[in-house]
Amino acid sequence: MRLILLGPPGAGKGTQAANLVNEYSIPHISTGDIFRKNIKEGTELGKKAMDYMNKGELVPDSLVVALVEDRLSWEDTKNGFLLDGFPRTIVQAKALDDVLTKNNIALTNVINVVVDSSILVERAVGRRICKKCGATYHIKFNPSKVEGICDVCGDTLKQRPDDVEETVKNRIRVYEDETMPLVDYYTKKNIILNIDGEQEISKVFDDIKKEIGE
Ligand code: AP5
Ligand code: ZN
Repeated sequence: MRLILLGPPGAGKGTQAANLVNEYSIPHISTGDIFRKNIKEGTELGKKAMDYMNKGELVPDSLVVALVEDRLSWEDTKNGFLLDGFPRTIVQAKALDDVLTKNNIALTNVINVVVDSSILVERAVGRRICKKCGATYHIKFNPSKVEGICDVCGDTLKQRPDDVEETVKNRIRVYEDETMPLVDYYTKKNIILNIDGEQEISKVFDDIKKEIGE
């Protein structure tokens, strides 16, 4: 199963990705997570990506494409993968097509999580993450059992630096300008599944499974 999760910031891609990789036993490839890990470790890639991310701008295509191309050459992707947050531009989508063609493989589906922009800001601003184990919460929609503490590992929960209101609004603008054209791109390829992302988390997951049909 080779899947892409598409959708605006705060749509629930990361939340659904955690469910999907568990269900289908495929690796979760989130370009955002990879960049954040590089920033934490102070790598050259992290230094290059940090300013763009903190402003809510896209990291340049050349950096992202090289990273994904490398990641897709790993052995664990042979039986499938879930791309989360990539591609995000037409240039990235075409580069991905080239990699897949070269390897003689095709995408199974593109899952487009549809959420109105009026809801996205509250979702992103209320998000809290555990830097230690990667778990994601929301102060209102998906709270941890003890406020500010991760249920899974007990670490302190944090807000992402790009989850402040102004930056979230910019990320939504960038999504509309740069990423939204991909909905058309994959609709024309006949592999897109449009999912109502405004429902409860478990219902969104059920709908995705139903649409994938496995
Ligand atoms: P990235 O990390 O990919 O962030 P994003 O696309 O902005 O998406 P988010 O992680 O904000 O949201 P999500 O859809 O995963 O939502 P989540 O499940 O957490 O990218 C960050 C940055 O990295 C970019 O701005 C860019 O700079 C750079 N970057 C990454 N990839 C790139 C690329 N390909 N090219 C160039 N640059 C790139 O949910 C959000 C909140 O809502 C959570 O609190 C959750 O608990 C809650 N929630 C989820 N589902 C529901 C629901 N159904 N109902 C109620 N609440 C819900
Ligand atoms: Zn944790």
